[in-house]
Amino acid sequence: MRVLFVSSEVYPLIKTGGLADVAGALPRALVELGHDVRILMPGYPQALEAATDKREVANLGVPLGAGETRLIEARTPDGGVPLLLIDCPAAYARGGGPYQDGAGHDWPDNPVRFGLLGWVAAVLSQPTTPLGWVPDILHGNDWQAGLAPAFLHAWGGPRPATVSTIHNIAYQGRFPADTVARLGLPWSMYTMEGLEFWGGLSFLKAALVYSDQITTVSPTYAREIQTPAFGCGLEGLLAHRAADVTGILNGADYGVWDPSSDPHLTQRYQPAAPEGKLANKLALQGELGLDRDGGAPLGIVVSRLNDMKGMDLLLAALPTLIGQGAQLAVVGTGDAHLEAEFQAAAQANPGRIAVRIGYDEGLAHRMQAGGDMLLMPSRAEPCGLTQIYAFRYGTLPVVHRTGGLADTVVDSTYDTLLAGTATGFVFEQPTASALRWCLERAVSLYRQPEQWRRIRLAAAAQDFAWRRSAERYRRLYAALLSAREGR
Ligand code: ADP
Ligand code: GLC
Repeated sequence: MRVLFVSSEVYPLIKTGGLADVAGALPRALVELGHDVRILMPGYPQALEAATDKREVANLGVPLGAGETRLIEARTPDGGVPLLLIDCPAAYARGGGPYQDGAGHDWPDNPVRFGLLGWVAAVLSQPTTPLGWVPDILHGNDWQAGLAPAFLHAWGGPRPATVSTIHNIAYQGRFPADTVARLGLPWSMYTMEGLEFWGGLSFLKAALVYSDQITTVSPTYAREIQTPAFGCGLEGLLAHRAADVTGILNGADYGVWDPSSDPHLTQRYQPAAPEGKLANKLALQGELGLDRDGGAPLGIVVSRLNDMKGMDLLLAALPTLIGQGAQLAVVGTGDAHLEAEFQAAAQANPGRIAVRIGYDEGLAHRMQAGGDMLLMPSRAEPCGLTQIYAFRYGTLPVVHRTGGLADTVVDSTYDTLLAGTATGFVFEQPTASALRWCLERAVSLYRQPEQWRRIRLAAAAQDFAWRRSAERYRRLYAALLSAREGR
């Protein structure tokens, strides 16, 4: 099958979170299953710089008033998957991040920047594509790719089967109504059954209305988003389309996340051998200015810092954690007040709490290797990748039972410990007191080294390789295509 995979970020070209990890790994896993996959993404300066074998393959003119636009064919730096980069300097050639400027404000022209992503995806999906390569499947991710199926609907004519994946329903790409005309979409589609959402244009709603299939990144989140507590206003539409909504759990790229081959570590180790982990823990404590104490349980956070990630709950539970003799190491960026509160906690607890505000890929790996527990009290978590990576590093997740966390972590209870199936610690309610109680349970098991070792071994032995998830997407694509033939 020919698959056009559309994403606004792709590891290792540019990354702000888990979407980039997925877009860097799933297309490659599909190629390994024998499919012909191309990734389409915006030509940010970082991406143009990192891509290899670049050559211009089409001049797309000045679409949507965005500026001169060319299409560059290239390859991901590992040579793995063909890339298509949209080279539109007026839209993408600037400093800052993919969605925001350096001060953390959304780029004001985001509707045009990502309208262009959807528009190009739609152009490349038609028989008239300048590439001469017509996809069977158009697979878009998140709101940034959301308009592609809407453009195809507006233009009519033959089109590929379309799949849209929701990585986080809280981000919807909502813009004022006049964006509809700016992007050349017909007003006839600006209705309650179409593009309109609370008096504006919603890119994510466009994806959910006009795609043949909707997927999200865990089975539990697929159910949760059909309820008001998690659906962010789109629960009605999703429940209406329930037959076309599937949850497919993400995988882990063990080429990037494996302590026995990880180039970021002081000392590589086999998850089953505890000495290697201890060496990484002492090195991490040294790097971050924590007391060098191999016996103190070390909790880590590698995360965006916001309330969805439950970071306020963690701050409230910190005195309990530290009171139990544990340490905490945080690397993250996010809401200014949470960044400030974590920094204040570090200042008040020198040697016990260390906080690095910022984005640091190498440190994220060293924390996974040096930590004992990964703290992830998310109120909502579509899938979550860090807990899946943590398993392989022998770092045990402490999580709220929601979304992909519920689908990946097995709580340590009397029964699961006896059966040898426990892989972490799970609490039921997103409250500080539930988290405190869970942390106490985790620390007390940490003090029983034989028990802890068994849980670590069970956690590390699990296999979340992408192959299995890619196989599920393959089946979904194939079912869509055979349903079309049947029509
Ligand atoms: P989300 O996509 O919601 O941010 P995930 O758990 O799916 O959450 O993915 C987060 C990804 O981003 C992981 O690869 C994690 O290592 C990485 N990450 C998050 N924050 C940082 C940071 N401050 N520095 C480096 N990597 C980070
Ligand atoms: C989103 C979600 C996260 C998920 C990631 C990749 O950023 O917040 O839970 O793992 O996408 O699908």
